[in-house]
Amino acid sequence: MEKKVVLVTGASGYLGGRLCRALFNSGHHVKAFVRRTSDVSSLTPPTDGGSNGGTLELVYGDVTDYQSLLQACSGCHVIFHAAALVEHWLPDPSRFFPVNVGGLKNVLQAYKEAGTIEKIVYTSSFFALGPTDGYVADETQIHPGKFFCTEYEKSKAIADKVALDAASEGLPIVLVYPGVIYGPGKVTTANTVANIMIERFNGRLPGYTGQANDRCSFSHVDDVVDGHIAAMDKGKPGERYLLTGQNASLKEVLDIAAMITQTKKPSFGIPIFILEVYGWISVLLSKINGKSPLISPPMVRVIKHQWSYSCDKAKAELDYHPRSLKEGLSEVLPWLKNLGLIKY
Ligand SMILES: NC(=O)c1ccc[n+]([C@@H]2O[C@H](COP(=O)([O-])OP(=O)(O)OC[C@H]3O[C@@H](n4cnc5c(N)ncnc54)[C@H](OP(=O)(O)O)[C@@H]3O)[C@@H](O)[C@H]2O)c1
Repeated sequence: MEKKVVLVTGASGYLGGRLCRALFNSGHHVKAFVRRTSDVSSLTPPTDGGSNGGTLELVYGDVTDYQSLLQACSGCHVIFHAAALVEHWLPDPSRFFPVNVGGLKNVLQAYKEAGTIEKIVYTSSFFALGPTDGYVADETQIHPGKFFCTEYEKSKAIADKVALDAASEGLPIVLVYPGVIYGPGKVTTANTVANIMIERFNGRLPGYTGQANDRCSFSHVDDVVDGHIAAMDKGKPGERYLLTGQNASLKEVLDIAAMITQTKKPSFGIPIFILEVYGWISVLLSKINGKSPLISPPMVRVIKHQWSYSCDKAKAELDYHPRSLKEGLSEVLPWLKNLGLIKY
């Protein structure tokens, strides 16, 4: 296998950290793009030598600071652009666009100026394709753009258009769309399933939310990482690949968790108006204590829709093999228990 110099933006994040580790273990030279303020504790120390000769270097910058990005691109063959503001609610929603759209535009400009980059793998999101009420969508779906549950969804949908326009200009960009990512790794706000399990197994989530047919697609973080590396190796420039997994309702997820832990299944659904009230109270509290709310009014809008996708194209072209929720959660729950974050 050819060893490459790869830049990973969002390296201090949940997905980026796992991606850096996998690239490092495969023998690549990883330039982990982090901010001076980032918590880099989950990244392999730069002094470690990978058994395959991989190396990892921290490079500092901000995706909204073009010069720092251009400098980091020096000598790189591949950019994995995973950095984003991943929140369902922020007190200042205008923060999403400079990072999620402006950051991608800077990456595309840096590609043009750096001159050494062969491929860009851009981490989009299922949100960029939009809801799938009553059906299962594939890569042909374009976000209708009429209504957005969250500003995050809107920013990812606009960034998707920027990425597709770049592809039609001939830039070698491969677009990957994970589902809700779950699995071991940093417990950031973006690690939604870990946060839900922490609430559930600490007695703060007595029931499930949504209806039985309100399905969402769940992707294990290591399957998503494998999908990203396959996108670098085999992804066709300009193509979109859904790196999604099992489509399931929150009730199904909690029932599987109950079966694995031999605990009681949630027996009732929390009415949507209670979630709405809880969401409003949570954002008010969040404005006081500065912590991200678990539920917010935009999150309740997300819960009211379906987000089911097919990953058949990635299976066929990227050899993507997503695991089932039962398999994935059988690993996640003991991991959270060992960390002391949940009890059962
Ligand atoms: N989590 C999911 O369920 C999910 C699902 C589908 C798609 N995605 C996509 O996957 C990607 C990674 O998300 P994640 O789950 O790993 O989220 P995360 O844990 O919140 O990580 C986000 C990363 O982006 C970095 N970042 C934010 N603003 C930045 C800036 N201005 N300059 C440089 N870096 C910046 C963060 O750095 P700091 O550490 O300094 O904050 C962090 O490393 C995102 O593109 C997201 O849209 C996530």
